[in-house]
Amino acid sequence: MCGIVAYKGHRNCHSILLNGLKRLEYRGYDSAGLACLRNDGQLSITKRRGKVKELEEALTDKNCDGIGIAHTRWATHGRPNQVNAHPHADQSRKIVLVHNGIIENYLPIKKFLISKKIKFKSETDTEVLVQLIGYFYNQGKMDFEKAVRAALQRVDGAYGIVIMNTDYPDMMIAARKGSPLALGIKDNEFFIASDISPIIKHTQQILYLKDSEMAVINGNKYTIKSVLKDITMPKNIEQIDYKIDDYDKGKFKYFMHKEIHEQVDTIANTVKGRVKSDAVLLHGLSEYWDEIESADKIYITACGTSWHAGLIGKLLIEKFSNTPVFVEYASEFRYNHTLVDNKTVVIAISQSGETADTLAAIKKANDYGAVTVGICNVPGSSVGRETDCGVYTRCGHEVGVASTKAFTAQIGILYFLALKLASAKGEISKTSLKRHLDYSDAMKKVKTVFRQEKLIEKIAKKYKKATDFLYLGRGMNFPVALEGALKLKEISYIHAEGYPAAEMKHGPIALVDKNMPSVFIVPKDKTYEKIISNIQEIKSRKGKIIIVTDSKNKVLKELANDLIIVPRTNHYLFVVLATIVLQLLAYHIAVSKKLNVDQPRNLAKSVTVE
Ligand code: AGP
Repeated sequence: MCGIVAYKGHRNCHSILLNGLKRLEYRGYDSAGLACLRNDGQLSITKRRGKVKELEEALTDKNCDGIGIAHTRWATHGRPNQVNAHPHADQSRKIVLVHNGIIENYLPIKKFLISKKIKFKSETDTEVLVQLIGYFYNQGKMDFEKAVRAALQRVDGAYGIVIMNTDYPDMMIAARKGSPLALGIKDNEFFIASDISPIIKHTQQILYLKDSEMAVINGNKYTIKSVLKDITMPKNIEQIDYKIDDYDKGKFKYFMHKEIHEQVDTIANTVKGRVKSDAVLLHGLSEYWDEIESADKIYITACGTSWHAGLIGKLLIEKFSNTPVFVEYASEFRYNHTLVDNKTVVIAISQSGETADTLAAIKKANDYGAVTVGICNVPGSSVGRETDCGVYTRCGHEVGVASTKAFTAQIGILYFLALKLASAKGEISKTSLKRHLDYSDAMKKVKTVFRQEKLIEKIAKKYKKATDFLYLGRGMNFPVALEGALKLKEISYIHAEGYPAAEMKHGPIALVDKNMPSVFIVPKDKTYEKIISNIQEIKSRKGKIIIVTDSKNKVLKELANDLIIVPRTNHYLFVVLATIVLQLLAYHIAVSKKLNVDQPRNLAKSVTVE
């Protein structure tokens, strides 16, 4: 799971590749590397453990014009160290490759290559692939393109690769199966990357490689070929009118903090132009609206935080429109027996639009004839392209690995989708719909949550040494509890579990003692009294109680060790306000532990392997 960027043209490679890698660091940041063909024809490979900055400092050899490949890694096979970093070369050190994906049958191939006296340097599956290409090229006496094709036909799993060969100084080959690769074309220059973010500032002429296609760039020309046989494929070039802003932390120390604060505007941006006082528009769905409206059932599929949004979406859609909704992790959906057919709508939610499992789930849904709907934050991303229709969350680039503003934007879209469905099916009265659509007052309340930040920071410092947390909520606030726990785990490395508040007594209550904080999410709704009993159950076992509520009252004050009160609002929006509180709590705990909240250990912003 990694980021690839490659360049073939006449300019110096280093700055193009390094800037590209910085854009792709969201895909992994445990090591990075770059290979280019020096002007004297020699191969130059530089790799470093750690972030792209480390690689940048190590790159002293500036003598590289014309052709180079680079990579930022999130380790799958082999530890995150310099040896295992990409690019990897074959034994002859003529062929060098960067790879995104997993070669699943690497062990038998490795065994075969070892029997042919090939020596390995790294623990990676990627080195097995480049050595196999090298084997066909050197020992099988195949030409470069044939050797690549022969090797790719023998590997199982997923790959997006770019390869160079010192015997072919004017040639670069890229191929994909499962892992996306885009080719940018500009006069006599070519840019290849895992997504368009490193390419788009150079050219808007983009060709997305399809599965089992390879791009063979030779001199100033390129052809698209099949990996399966030596035939030429059509060139489907798209003009992508999309600008990518530069990242900027503004007055904040971390992107995550900035992104939490941006929610004052992003939630409103998501909705702008999509909602009238008496109707929900969502133009992105128009072409397929008849099928969506008449669907028998809906599946929502996603991973991580986006999956939590899906759980909230289920409750909203079922409540308002009486349409049955199933929510499945994309990694499960792709293999489970699912009841998907052409009367099913499958909604895929993804901030990045590049999550491998979510893309595989979309593919499965498309194959089964379902209408696929994307809810995604990144225009031009794979989710946007692979689904039949969709809605962009429009909350701006999210850089922090822990997703924040994308989550609340996803909830916004799901809320309005639920209302649109309800209205189309006659399940909601005009007056009620109008009341729900008048969200302007509720939006103002988002701002007031930040008045509690000092208090939240104080609470964070108080509990920063806890080793375990419970997050408890009911109804829509159960997914909020899951999300609060995930945020804390991701950035503070404290173990946390989210549970339905009443379910806690069926097991997790055994963990409770005087050191363990439980965060209760307690809106004044129909489950209020029930949840008070759940709090009592923890309290009587000496657990510490942190309460997030919209109700100022004596009972809660007495029960809570710490109380955070958000303004009262439409209770669908309470989930957003409570989420922001939990994001701030996780953030301040992590910061008080002096951790890098934007790039936590072991994680990547986008999980592009299975
Ligand atoms: C969120 O904080 C996580 N980093 C992670 O769970 C994320 O939500 C998940 O990987 C899905 O990503 P996506 O929304 O880009 O598909």
